[in-house]
Amino acid sequence: MINLQNRIALCRALVLLVSLAAASVVLVRAQDEEMSDADYIAARRQHYGELGTAVKAIRDQLKASAPNLNVIRESTETVVKASVTQYHYFRAGSGKETEEKTAALPTIWSEPAKFKAAQDNFRVEADAFNKVVAYGDLSKIQEAFKSLGGVCKACHEHFREPD
Ligand code: HEC
Repeated sequence: MINLQNRIALCRALVLLVSLAAASVVLVRAQDEEMSDADYIAARRQHYGELGTAVKAIRDQLKASAPNLNVIRESTETVVKASVTQYHYFRAGSGKETEEKTAALPTIWSEPAKFKAAQDNFRVEADAFNKVVAYGDLSKIQEAFKSLGGVCKACHEHFREPD
């Protein structure tokens, strides 16, 4: 049932995950403490900006008459990566108490367990989406994409200031 191409895609996704998890821990730990608020928050907003771009690229393909699976796969790698590194962008004191432009609400720090649960939901949903994308069935991808969008929305509603 699983053809060779899908097997390769699955393997690549697995290798990517393992290496990302290892790299992100080492890299971001070292940077966290020393960065200025401006750099720190800019990095956070860039992180979510890239995630937004990747999700939009997937949405555009899913709306197209002939969706390009390769574009969907590449953007999905960005989504999975973001779900791994997301945990490093919320050091204490990096919210609205800074002078920087940020939509990060105080609830992130006042309700840490709830925020962590919202992050974990994204982590789980990104992996689930990645698996569905690896199989390449477009109608299943459409369905899984809705669930993925749901976790973005759920977190934004409670932890991000509306535009
Ligand atoms: C666990 C919470 C959480 C999840 C899950 C989450 N976000 Fe966000 N997102 C935030 C927060 C908090 C900000 C505000 C960051 C800031 O302004 O410092 C943000 C900001 C953004 C931004 C604006 C970036 C900018 O330029 O300032 C985009 C776009 C975005 N998120 C897209 C997404 C998408 C797409 C998903 C789902 C695939 C997602 N987010 C999942 C919490 C989350």
